Amino acid sequence: MNLSRGLGLRACLLVGLSALLLSACQFSLPPAAENELPQLGAPGLGDRLYPGLGNGGYDVTRYDLSLTVDVEQNSLDADIRIDAVATQALSRFNLDFYGLEIDALTVNGAEAEYARAGSELQITPAVPLTESVPFQVQIAYHGTPEPLTDGSVGIDSLGWQTQPGGIYAASEPNGSMNWYPLNNHPSDKAAYTFSVTVPAPYQVAMNGVLTAQTATEMDGKAAVTYTWEMAQPMAGYLTTIQINQYDVETAETAAGVDLRNYFPAETPESVRDDFDATEEMLAYLEARLGPYPFDAYGVVLLTEDVGWALETQTLSIFPPRGGPEHTVMHELAHQWFGNSVSPATWEDIWLNEGFASYFHLLWTEETDGPEAFQTAMTNLYLQLQATETGSPIPADPSELFGRAVYYRGAWTLHALRLATGDEQFFAILRTYYDRHAGGSVTTADFLAVVDELAGADAVALVEAWLYDEQLPAMPGE
Ligand code: TRP
Ligand code: ZN
Repeated sequence: MNLSRGLGLRACLLVGLSALLLSACQFSLPPAAENELPQLGAPGLGDRLYPGLGNGGYDVTRYDLSLTVDVEQNSLDADIRIDAVATQALSRFNLDFYGLEIDALTVNGAEAEYARAGSELQITPAVPLTESVPFQVQIAYHGTPEPLTDGSVGIDSLGWQTQPGGIYAASEPNGSMNWYPLNNHPSDKAAYTFSVTVPAPYQVAMNGVLTAQTATEMDGKAAVTYTWEMAQPMAGYLTTIQINQYDVETAETAAGVDLRNYFPAETPESVRDDFDATEEMLAYLEARLGPYPFDAYGVVLLTEDVGWALETQTLSIFPPRGGPEHTVMHELAHQWFGNSVSPATWEDIWLNEGFASYFHLLWTEETDGPEAFQTAMTNLYLQLQATETGSPIPADPSELFGRAVYYRGAWTLHALRLATGDEQFFAILRTYYDRHAGGSVTTADFLAVVDELAGADAVALVEAWLYDEQLPAMPGE
């Protein structure tokens, strides 16, 4: 920002030898006019844990991705369109994009200059962009995505990658940029349309609703184009693509949510049964939080034997062995907490993991009774104490998905519940969810609701659980 201002001024002084241009320059110097000079969009959003992720100067409203995938070669050919609105006058802006080869790039239909360094794609439109005005970026690219490594998760492969018999993408927190260019930060959510062509007999499962499935050809062989619509805003880290051969099992809940589970053909019945409780769990969550946030839900199983599950929006990813019931509940609860209400910065991750963990614990209260739940909470507390678990606000990306975030985060909510009683506690969760559905929030937004409904003492209690290094005493002790 300062750089562009400085260069503008120097250019002005150089041409200032001409009296005419000098007066033009002087005309541009008063503050009101200077504010309208196009500036450079920031190459990062200053997230404390990931300063370089995301980009400043615009808001994306929609991604329209069109991909043709050679599954056997693990290569793709892409044509994408990004609809955005400039939030400042822009002479240049960035997207996050890692690997792959760009074939063409236009802004508002005009060829634009671009430069790449690491995961930053720097774009200089032919004509600067005006504040508050929508603009469109189109990019054609191709290649084989390179999985990313990141210190935040105990797995060293994020983003688009292969699995036995197919391909999948799992990206939290930053992997999505290995298969499409985006504003890679959960504070900028957008709608998505995906249109993916694969050779038969492969199938494609993605976020949202399958709106079309059209026969076509790839290199003279039978292929199918799958169109998926994600109408509600989605954070980039929650996008997924799943390519394999599936049995698709569908149902509709009483509340009208389309359920569709994607099981690789060889998935045993006993594993498919792990997800039988989904409808009951949905009803439990809807009773406490309000309607399910999206039009569809389901799971997709990988063929690669991973040790995790992931709450990709409307289509959670599970390993081939399925999941224990608490994990099934955990990923479902994320659809409200994390997916509909998303973290505005990565240090707010407890708003995802603490909430999803508390709901999977609450599910044991529902299914096994209050005593089993009490025991589970006490045991968790003792474990936090024995391991001297500190604040659930991560100091470093390596702490994003650790015990403090998940379980001291869950205990933070439990301590609040013990202090306020059930009625007020669930009113807080519901109000917080209602107010921020579809958006991105910080911990302060949650504390504001706690303050409104339960007052300053409750805020102080939550703050101690969140910010004190020392574990607060077990309530009632
Ligand atoms: N959010 C996941 C969960 O707890 C965990 C997770 C974080 C993850 N990053 C990931 C899983 C990357 C797979 C890949 O439900
Ligand atoms: Zn989780």
